[in-house]
Amino acid sequence: MPHITFLPYEIRLDVPRGTSVLAAADEAAEMVDDDFFIGELCEGRHECGNCVVEVVEGADALSPVTDSERRLLDRLGAGAAFRTACTARIHGDATVRIPHPVKHAEASGEARMQAHP
Ligand code: FES
Repeated sequence: MPHITFLPYEIRLDVPRGTSVLAAADEAAEMVDDDFFIGELCEGRHECGNCVVEVVEGADALSPVTDSERRLLDRLGAGAAFRTACTARIHGDATVRIPHPVKHAEASGEARMQAHP
């Protein structure tokens, strides 16, 4: 079973192959009682961009970028290291960074990160 790690929380989950990064993120967020994504999500329609994550390791372990996803990421100015969590499916071990950890940043006194890359 592949695993995915969410930074900066250092939460590692074993997930069934094909699980979306978003579904895994929801599970991880519950473990720390946090909101990983700011704003409403568009349920994978590539309209909101609120589910963007940075892939730190294992980009090849995720499903390929779709054309619609690429158009959104380009519109956001997000480079090749970024994916939409709603679209990326986990097929192997990967590590992603949540770009704007809400409570984590507040709790640790860190400056809030950018809402979008
Ligand atoms: S949920 Fe809107 S782009 Fe992923």
